[in-house]
Amino acid sequence: MTAEVKTRVSRAGIGLIITAVLVGALVWWHPSGLYLWAKAVHIIAVISWMAGMLYLPRLFIYHCEAERGSRQSETFKVMERRLLTIITNPAMVVTWVLGLWLAHDGGWLSAGWLQAKFALVVVLSGVHGFMVRCVHDFGADQNRHTQKFYRVINEVPTLLMIGIVLLVVLKPV
Ligand code: HEM
Repeated sequence: MTAEVKTRVSRAGIGLIITAVLVGALVWWHPSGLYLWAKAVHIIAVISWMAGMLYLPRLFIYHCEAERGSRQSETFKVMERRLLTIITNPAMVVTWVLGLWLAHDGGWLSAGWLQAKFALVVVLSGVHGFMVRCVHDFGADQNRHTQKFYRVINEVPTLLMIGIVLLVVLKPV
């Protein structure tokens, strides 16, 4: 395992630990009457997370056209890094923390729609992890994929989001 991979694995581990500690603290604290507030903040976090998940692949598509080392390429690197670290990563953690707490507090854990939604969110989180890797690769001028590939990947978060929202709103099972 290279030093860079180790750093990425340990960062993902830290993110998981922070999420677990925050969910544990909320379950222990058990704030009464805050369900709707938590749901509102969950939706705000979801919108912020999805903004990053939908915009990052578009940046990658344009970044593919920029010559390595050019001023344009360096600008894309800054945009990608900031979008990822300032908005997308924290929004994902808040979405998970409040989503898990809502599931616990609302007594939804055994509901079929929640389990199906959970599976789709796990896939979405995997796509997020893939985008983290792409941002690092572009940052090191080592992009491994074509523009066409990013055009296809661009559609994946949209499809997952549609499935997730239909499940939570319609609760079909
Ligand atoms: C592990 C992650 C997640 C969990 C455990 C989770 C769980 C929940 C729960 C239990 C609710 C409350 C349902 C209710 O009160 O009827 C909720 C609301 C909602 N969630 Fe999530 N969620 C997660 C991630 C997401 C994601 C990624 C999206 C969208 C892409 C999303 C979209 C929504 C929406 C739109 C609502 C409001 C639904 C309504 O009030 O009708 N959630 N979530």
